[in-house]
Amino acid sequence: MKVELYGAQSMRLFVLLRCALLLVVVAGRVPAAGDPDVDPPLASLPPVPVPPDNPITQEKAELGKLLFFDTRLTGDASLSCGDCHDPKKGWGSNQPISRGYPGAVHWRNSHTAVNSGYLGKLFWQGSSKSLETQAPTANRGAVAGNGERDVMQSRLRQTPHYIRKFKEIFGTERPVLGDAWQAIATFERAMLSQRDTPLDRYLEGDEDALSEEAVAGLKLFQGKANCIECHNGPLLSDEKYYNLGVPRPPEWESTGLNTITFRWENYAKGLPEKGYREWKDDAGLFYTTKRPDDIGKHRTQPLRYLAFTPPYMHAGQFFSLEEVIDFYNDGGGNNEFTDGSHGINTKTPILKPLDLTDEEKEALVIFLDEISGDEIKMPVPEVPLYEAMPDVPGLTQAKAKRIGLEMYLSNREGGGQ
Ligand code: HEC
Ligand code: HEC
Repeated sequence: MKVELYGAQSMRLFVLLRCALLLVVVAGRVPAAGDPDVDPPLASLPPVPVPPDNPITQEKAELGKLLFFDTRLTGDASLSCGDCHDPKKGWGSNQPISRGYPGAVHWRNSHTAVNSGYLGKLFWQGSSKSLETQAPTANRGAVAGNGERDVMQSRLRQTPHYIRKFKEIFGTERPVLGDAWQAIATFERAMLSQRDTPLDRYLEGDEDALSEEAVAGLKLFQGKANCIECHNGPLLSDEKYYNLGVPRPPEWESTGLNTITFRWENYAKGLPEKGYREWKDDAGLFYTTKRPDDIGKHRTQPLRYLAFTPPYMHAGQFFSLEEVIDFYNDGGGNNEFTDGSHGINTKTPILKPLDLTDEEKEALVIFLDEISGDEIKMPVPEVPLYEAMPDVPGLTQAKAKRIGLEMYLSNREGGGQ
């Protein structure tokens, strides 16, 4: 009996000890009470992933850089990627809602293109799967580039520099538009990836890489403020989708052009009629999945380049990091997909009032500011000029003469065909 009693007691002790040990181990990884999952720790950025069918080469990245800033790849040739992803504006736009194609406005905030090579899915609603497929949607999308395929391709084919470069890089006689998107994606991957920032150095063991205040901010980020629940891993994003209750931007109701774009986007993205007539907020991930649980959810943003990319959130609802922290301190906000106005409430239960002191709020802002690292500065390159093409296959002297191009042919060895 005695022995059995001892046995049961020590078994209980053993179980208790194991529980305590488990708690210690888990406590190191799960930062605050009420967390639904275990979060990958913050980590320094690994090399950017490269798809096997679009390897990075210096020449391709250089070509992509030209194309990124070239207005030939939009409808009326007045706008380039670089106009909405401006190097001087954090490679984004610094307007709450991005400018649009001339005569229109966009309806969302323009992301920074920095570090976009690391993202599994792109856009606030994760609707694009790679940089290669994202670029054409930007340049053909009605409120962005509004370009027509053949026209954009023809413009490349009338530019000798591009003809030469596309031939060298892709082996084609004349530029093919799809290769332009490959080159732009390579540029983004190769030149707009930001490693070796103060955060990377700190996480790799250099304790002086961040100031004392920033380290205090980091502790809050991973602890009391519970940002780590969603902003985790090397990018500081779990790449999942949440409705935080970010309020609706006033422009959608106050400014005619914005209202038109908002309504058009809802229509084009296939919102069911009831939603089209009644909803006044951005339904986010729902447009992609059409699952009611996804209404009003947007992607967790990476936080690595924030100092250069105000305003913040999907329609630039907050102008400063201080405003963002106040928003989280209040436990997030409300919009029509949190308040049950359409019988819908998808607000994440993760957000709770944080009860941060002014000092703690400041430490968080300092942390976010310091980890932004150096600005990626790049002068806007001069794009190549259109020129008459001497080397068009099949262009004979006689034909060239008829269209006034013979002087170009005479410069060429053999002169025509
Ligand atoms: C008229 C403005 C405009 C133009 C032109 C434009 N973009 Fe964008 N870009 C935006 C906006 C706005 C978003 C956010 C859209 C959304 O999520 O619905 C965006 C999103 C992106 C993203 C997603 C980043 C992320 O974090 O998910 C990338 C990458 C990008 N653009 C690259 C490009 C490239 C490359 C071009 C040229 C081929 C281009 N953009 C042209 C406005 C523009
Ligand atoms: C429940 C998940 C979640 C938690 C917790 C969370 N965030 Fe976010 N964060 C998001 C999502 C989702 C977005 C984009 C929301 C949108 O635009 O509607 C975002 C956006 C942001 C942005 C704007 C970035 C940009 O480029 O526009 C900042 C800054 C930010 N969060 C910082 C924080 C900080 C600091 C904390 C902790 C106090 C925190 N977040 C906690 C999910 C979360």
